[in-house]
Amino acid sequence: MPIELSPVTSDFTCRVTGIDLRQPLSAADKEAIVAASDAYAVLVFPEQHLSKEDLVAFGHAFGEVDTTLQKKLMHRIQNRLGTEEVTDISNLDAEGNVAGPDHWQTITTVGNRFWHSDGSYKHTPIRYSILNAVRVVEHGGETQYADLRAAWDALDEATRNLVADKVGIFWSHNTRDQLKIADSEEERAAFPKTRWPLVRTHAGSGRKVLWCDSKVCAIEGMSVPEGRALAHELIEHIGQRERVYSHKWQTGDLVMYDNRATVHRGRRFDHSQHREMRRVETVDDSQSLGPAPDQNIV
Ligand code: OGA
Ligand code: MN
Repeated sequence: MPIELSPVTSDFTCRVTGIDLRQPLSAADKEAIVAASDAYAVLVFPEQHLSKEDLVAFGHAFGEVDTTLQKKLMHRIQNRLGTEEVTDISNLDAEGNVAGPDHWQTITTVGNRFWHSDGSYKHTPIRYSILNAVRVVEHGGETQYADLRAAWDALDEATRNLVADKVGIFWSHNTRDQLKIADSEEERAAFPKTRWPLVRTHAGSGRKVLWCDSKVCAIEGMSVPEGRALAHELIEHIGQRERVYSHKWQTGDLVMYDNRATVHRGRRFDHSQHREMRRVETVDDSQSLGPAPDQNIV
């Protein structure tokens, strides 16, 4: 039986049913999922109750599973799930109890509330992120997705000309600094700054993307304040509601999103409630959105 696709929005989000992701993926299903993702960019698979191992196996079907964030930062603090391939997107401490408001795990969740593409700050970025909901909250806690292709399409001519040749400097700690999260110098240096053009081409759809998120700390060729103000303006444009899909989680939902064509943000929820998600990320070829710039930062 082929998988079934039901569009949630005309060209951005699609529900995928008729498949059990705990089972090994056939070549035909994998191809159909990649094609659906190229067209839509956000795929929602309901009722997928995957073990950690199932989730990793599903991710592996789409490329190498990224472990850099786990190795460099996350499991230095705690490694509740006991693996480098699955990131613990929860507000739980190492024992699995709801963590306090100042706990590192809770604070890190707060950092996800700014529009971002997973791994935009990495020299080798992320292609797909796969999020599986283990326990959800009743109120809030949605994840919102915005389409970077539609954002480019909707940009006015003058702004298109302004950003066409611009390069942004992306830094992992741009948002964490804004939140005054007290990371050590070693943590702040874990991922050196990276440079990416603000306009790129998404190979899967052949469409241009406006590649900007909350990790942009400067834009080359502009004063720092002006670059940061422009980044802020572009992110506001990207997040306009007509280009946003807001996902209200049900336990077992699995959402696979293409970080090359989307940004996302987590929405506020009551941190005394137990919210638990697991995430697997696949490594992207740094050339996949067009030629990667020289990464020397001056
Ligand atoms: C993520 C993320 C947002 C959320 O897992 O990459 O940004 O709503 N999550 O948990
Ligand atoms: Mn994220």
